[in-house]
Amino acid sequence: MIPVCKPWLPGNERKYVIDALDTNWISSSGEYITRFEENFSKFCGVKYGIGCSSGFGALHLACAALELKKSDEVIAPTFTMAASINSIIITGAKPVLVDADPETYCIDVKKIEERITNRTKAIMAVHIYGHPCDMDKINYLAKKYNLFVIEDAAESHGAEYKGRKCGSISDIGCFSFYANKILTTGEGGMCVTNNLKFAERMKRLRNHAFDLPRFIHKEVGFNYRLTNIQAAIGTAQVENADMLVEARRNVGLKYNEKLKDFKKIILPKEKDYAKNVYWMYGIVLSDEVKLSREEIMQRLKEKGVDTRNFFIPMHKQPAYYNKTVENVPDCKWDFPIANKIGERGFYLPSSSDITDKEIDEVCMVLKKVLE
Ligand SMILES: Cc1ncc(COP(=O)(O)O)c(C=O)c1O
Repeated sequence: MIPVCKPWLPGNERKYVIDALDTNWISSSGEYITRFEENFSKFCGVKYGIGCSSGFGALHLACAALELKKSDEVIAPTFTMAASINSIIITGAKPVLVDADPETYCIDVKKIEERITNRTKAIMAVHIYGHPCDMDKINYLAKKYNLFVIEDAAESHGAEYKGRKCGSISDIGCFSFYANKILTTGEGGMCVTNNLKFAERMKRLRNHAFDLPRFIHKEVGFNYRLTNIQAAIGTAQVENADMLVEARRNVGLKYNEKLKDFKKIILPKEKDYAKNVYWMYGIVLSDEVKLSREEIMQRLKEKGVDTRNFFIPMHKQPAYYNKTVENVPDCKWDFPIANKIGERGFYLPSSSDITDKEIDEVCMVLKKVLE
């Protein structure tokens, strides 16, 4: 089976992890944490990095740093992973959903303004599947209405918008280092920001909001600490960051080349302003394909090609439309693009170290199944 994605640890990961163990720095202090934070934020072109235990933790820390609260609203895409939306919900604020752009699958910037109210406090821009959102338009609206912007760059390490790295084009950028991410620590996350006040607040909140003197807590904190062992892996990954990003992007470029004349699927795009890193190589079945997506994915699996369906949009989540908590997003609007890609999209094997032979095999099997 060609897996949909597997981690790639081609450098000093093992050496640094053993060093962390040998020196007995296994918890959330240790030199690798500082190195990882400094080097990854530098890679993003941002001053401060705050490592944490997951992408969700990074998003929650960012929402908390902005002091989101009940009665605030945050504009966010419906086509995303639930962590984006849940990180808003647990602050008490209400996510307000916007449909996807038909080309990039990111938030449709043309549909944001109509959702802004006098309660809106922030926009969450999620760079989907490695393609950047149209950040100039989002930042223009943020300035016009005095809003914060958070980037959920969990899937977009090294992706660029007009030459700037995703995560660096807003108040706070948030990353995940889960095993399928372009850079991984197994589990982990990071917030990056140029704002010292936010950086200090996130550092405090990730560690129970400890203050001085010790065991004084002036606000409600969390435990989102990253361990030195995870950071050891991350430090090694950042040493190879450019190579890891290019490898992943090259997988996408190879699929583009091999599938470009195949009319039964819609390929991922790369807008003029963007460097797409193709975190996952996502395709959408064109209308002429009559078989269901599930049937196609099953047939691919039988022939040794593993795939995953696209996200199910947030307005279709029982947790939200059943109003399991008070401030769930409204699911009543029409989201035609998210509905369509959510039903017809899936991604192909996208590991950074997938071989050319495996890519050939995936394309051959895909064509066979669809024809
Ligand atoms: C867009 C997006 N945001 C947030 C997350 C959450 O990251 P984590 O699983 O590290 O909490 C993910 C995870 O895949 C994601 O795809």
